[in-house]
Amino acid sequence: MEYLHGFDKKEQDRLIHQAQFLEPFVYAGVDLKKVNRLLEVGCGVGAQSKILLKRFPKLKITGVDFSAAQLHVAAQYLKKPIKDGKVELLQQDAQALDLEHKKYDAAFLCWFLEHVPEPLKVLKRVYKHLKPGAQIILTEVFNQSLFMEPYSPNYLKYWFEFNELQWGMKGHPFAGAQLGHLLKEAGFKSINVEFRPLHFDSRNPKQRSEFIEFFFQILLSAETQLLDQKKVTSDQVTKMYKEVALAKKAKDSVFFYSFARATAVR
Ligand SMILES: C[S@@+](CC[C@H](N)C(=O)[O-])C[C@H]1O[C@@H](n2cnc3c(N)ncnc32)[C@H](O)[C@@H]1O
Repeated sequence: MEYLHGFDKKEQDRLIHQAQFLEPFVYAGVDLKKVNRLLEVGCGVGAQSKILLKRFPKLKITGVDFSAAQLHVAAQYLKKPIKDGKVELLQQDAQALDLEHKKYDAAFLCWFLEHVPEPLKVLKRVYKHLKPGAQIILTEVFNQSLFMEPYSPNYLKYWFEFNELQWGMKGHPFAGAQLGHLLKEAGFKSINVEFRPLHFDSRNPKQRSEFIEFFFQILLSAETQLLDQKKVTSDQVTKMYKEVALAKKAKDSVFFYSFARATAVR
């Protein structure tokens, strides 16, 4: 199956770094203290599962992913909690999710629906696996929101092609804006969608530089594919590198990106 970021070791390490780096933003307002059985769909290499267990040690997590390569890494990364019976990992396509246990207390999906051709199918399947009154928590991209000052045309063109590439793979780079509709269609109630800004300027230059670099690594995760498919030229890529280097140094630079957080109840 096609997947934007690929499954190599560099990408798997990036997922672990990403989860740790964004933890304060992703977990703000997440309270799973009263939850026992948690369904984590699109668990990848287990990067979020580890954070979830650290924050909510009582959880028992079922992690689902369709990639054997990701689950293989997750099995190593979560060796102890798996041994202790705190985590089980299952290989399934989430669009046809069918688990033995159908009464989860909550579901957690993070940076996931953007990669699925039919996100509504996933949400309908998750719905079926939740207890009435159980909460679903989603964290999703909204790639339209990226902005960087000084004006960086090659960076923005590359980003456009990055999103085109994902769109061509039947992904959803703007999924964050669709969550309210999708949750409603799937039958969920008490839907709340909010956008969380990552906005850094000269007031916090260290964080600004870290975020510019962090996003740069996301862009680079598709560099080979974009070049191979001739969606960008190596000249554009070189210019984009320069724009990023400038933005990291410039006194007045600005980084802005907003992701979406949705919660709802079955
Ligand atoms: C960007 S990663 C996010 C992983 C994890 N949630 C995290 O935040 O670290 C997306 C994951 O979705 C998985 N995936 C993509 N499409 C899938 C599908 N249809 N069913 C199950 N997993 C899928 C990929 O294998 C990948 O591990």
